[in-house]
Amino acid sequence: MKDKYDSRPDYCRRIIKSRRELATSSLVADRYACGQQIYRSRNSIVYQGWDTVSGNAVVLKKLPDGASPQRVAEFCREGTILKLQTHPGLIHGEGYFFSHEQHWLVMEPARGELLLDLLASGETCKWPIKFKIKILKNIACAIKALHKLRWEHGDIKPDNLFINTKDANVTILDYSSSAVIGSPRATQSYSPEWRPSWLLNGRIDTRADAYGLALLAISLWFPHKRVSEMKTISWIAYRFVKIVSKM
Ligand SMILES: Nc1ncnc2c1ncn2[C@@H]1O[C@H](COP(=O)(O)OP(=O)(O)OP(=O)(O)O)[C@@H](O)[C@H]1O
Ligand SMILES: [Mg+2]
Repeated sequence: MKDKYDSRPDYCRRIIKSRRELATSSLVADRYACGQQIYRSRNSIVYQGWDTVSGNAVVLKKLPDGASPQRVAEFCREGTILKLQTHPGLIHGEGYFFSHEQHWLVMEPARGELLLDLLASGETCKWPIKFKIKILKNIACAIKALHKLRWEHGDIKPDNLFINTKDANVTILDYSSSAVIGSPRATQSYSPEWRPSWLLNGRIDTRADAYGLALLAISLWFPHKRVSEMKTISWIAYRFVKIVSKM
């Protein structure tokens, strides 16, 4: 896992305090000022932003040009979940907008630090066992709140989790792989390391999220192991998580 952390692009983590910090006059959906880019991948571009109506910082996520219709549909679905859910451990937002010929999502800025960065810096090795367990419990609660709404998250991994290192509160991001429980499962995954082939069959259920939670637990205790090296131990952890969390 370590090499993945090392190749992570640099991005800005600070939540902005005022619109003056954004050198822009054009507004997305006539309301949201779009500022500095904080992340870019082939799937999305993420920016700091400002809601000129509520006067709060926001985060804007945009689809790169030329996105496929399937990706646009996923993006709209992500917007639906952002608006729908209210659990504090799940990122909430204003949803999907089409503006300036671009597809956008508007959401609240996640508080805390990305778990990926905390693992990479070695910070998680310093955490007491009790604190790690509290974090895993909070993640499990948030995942179960999403399951209650009949959605599977589908991409539970350190890149999609913010942790508040003071109180162990968590925020789960990124509903781009989410799907309604009971619907047919897509045969491809954006994070194949985090979802083995035996989880790609049948209908959508909660197994992938239980597996993701099990891998997170292993990452907290064995931060230097590669996910791909952990096949047997991850299967055992997965069975354990399923029994303990009744997922
Ligand atoms: N609401 C937010 N608050 C703060 N940072 C965010 C927020 N949303 C996204 N980010 C940052 O942008 C990154 C990518 O966001 P996200 O996972 O939603 O996009 P993605 O399309 O899944 O990207 P990837 O394909 O790389 O997984 C996150 O890891 C995080 O660093
Ligand atoms: Mg992601």
